[in-house]
Amino acid sequence: MRHRLPWLYSLYEGLFRDLAQLGTHEPVSVAANAVYGATLNVQRGVKMRYECHVDSNPIEGLLYVTDHPKGSGGELVVANSTMANSVSEVDADCSVVYPASGNLIFFDARRFAHYVRPLTSDSAVRVVVAMNFYTPSSSEADRPKDLSGHLFGYQE
Ligand SMILES: [Fe+2]
Repeated sequence: MRHRLPWLYSLYEGLFRDLAQLGTHEPVSVAANAVYGATLNVQRGVKMRYECHVDSNPIEGLLYVTDHPKGSGGELVVANSTMANSVSEVDADCSVVYPASGNLIFFDARRFAHYVRPLTSDSAVRVVVAMNFYTPSSSEADRPKDLSGHLFGYQE
């Protein structure tokens, strides 16, 4: 994304990092490896999904590009309990974020499992800019070595 959307990557390294900093006393840094610093997540149709998981980074920023109002799918569902680790357990007690174009959210989901519900229309497209931020106590070096292989199909 750094080369194809340099203005967006500049926001990740600049204004968006500054905004992420407002939520913690630790210094917030962007990823040294641009491959997973900021990525464009594109979800198409009813079959693609983002599985239930927890994050390895302490601050995740999501900039929503497309709108997905209630009933159209694509909402982010986050467990309210650290004990939940499956879709049914998350659903039992959760917070739901309906994507709205232009909204920027930050969250720490290292302990709260979350997933994205499938879109309800074959022609729907959901676009989100996902941004990883780090702190000294939870640094980029703590990122699991096989994570990029799962997300992007290669090994670091
Ligand atoms: Fe996540």
